Amino acid sequence: MKNDLILRAMRGENVERPPVWIMRQAGRVLPQYRAVRNSVAGFKDLLKNPELACEVSIQPVDILGVDAAIIFSDILVVPEAMGFGYDMIEKKGPTFKKTLQSEADVAQLQIAPSGSIDYTIAAIKLTKAALNARVPLIGFAGAPFTIFCYMVEGGGSKTFSKARAMMYQNPALAHQILQAITQSTINYLQDQIQAGVDILQIFDSWAGISGEYIYNTFSIPYLQQISVAVGDKVPLTIFAKDAFFALEKIASIQHCATVGLDWTVSADYAKRRTNGKCLQGNLDPAQLYAPVAEIEKATRKMLQDFGKTKYVANLGHGLYPDLPLDNVKCFVETIQSYAY
Ligand code: CP3
Repeated sequence: MKNDLILRAMRGENVERPPVWIMRQAGRVLPQYRAVRNSVAGFKDLLKNPELACEVSIQPVDILGVDAAIIFSDILVVPEAMGFGYDMIEKKGPTFKKTLQSEADVAQLQIAPSGSIDYTIAAIKLTKAALNARVPLIGFAGAPFTIFCYMVEGGGSKTFSKARAMMYQNPALAHQILQAITQSTINYLQDQIQAGVDILQIFDSWAGISGEYIYNTFSIPYLQQISVAVGDKVPLTIFAKDAFFALEKIASIQHCATVGLDWTVSADYAKRRTNGKCLQGNLDPAQLYAPVAEIEKATRKMLQDFGKTKYVANLGHGLYPDLPLDNVKCFVETIQSYAY
């Protein structure tokens, strides 16, 4: 690997400067992404086309110079492979054709076998070949908890109250769904490793709606199962957004190498709760709307706060599509010109 800074940082080895990649770096903030996106009818046509998915996965490496690529796909490919398809509706987000409410709905659930998400696996193989070992390739999946939230709710929500209600009304049914998602996710992540990803990240984007009891009961055990099944062939990052209350538990998951952080926690708070694990994050993406002098200042403060070892710079969540590209570049350049 020509640039293995992120892999070294995750192993706790010395790095000359902090490595950086950005969540949602392959997306609408890049004009070159929008051009490819406009050449197809919908978002799903893009992610199901391995050649185009490869092209947009590599764009941020070429245009932003980030230290890793992330495969262009979506966390919702797993529920679709389980028989619960969705449409990505412009300005509204994902909408599921049917939701999981009753035992009868759950009876229709299939475990997605190895090989079922073949388009993303093909895209990974193409991207690995095209990257030619320039930087590592990150594979990913949603955490079972977050996928459960979408499948029960039928789409995005501010509260995911239907999903939370099921955990209290019918916990056995909730566990049955979570177990099926977990097995499907394990199959998918093992396929990704076989196809050549160098790092895996689990996105638990809706962890913040849970609270300690719900998270410990309905998320942590399934993350643990995934990490044990996937093993330590590639380093695993777990990003549970807004789950400040779960940092200790996440850090103690067996093969979790890196804990992803949103911007609500300070470096000091996170370090005290993560037992020496590598940390990733966590500038507020909205900071990138500020003038570049402010972005430089805030970015350098972030680097100072996290310190020299076991650290991967990133934002605290994905890029917003309307962020000025020059400001995004300023974030990356400030990190890459920072010498330890
Ligand atoms: O650059 C990358 O990070 C790789 C690609 C990637 C996408 N989605 C592409 C995408 C990744 C890693 C994801 C993960 C994902 N998808 C998450 C977890 C991360 C997070 O944001 O918390 C979630 C919750 C989803 C589900 C999802 N996908 C939603 C809610 C939406 C609609 C909101 C929006 O931003 O439009 C998507 C669509 C989506 N996924 C887009 C992209 C580039 C935008 C659609 C488009 O380009 O037409």
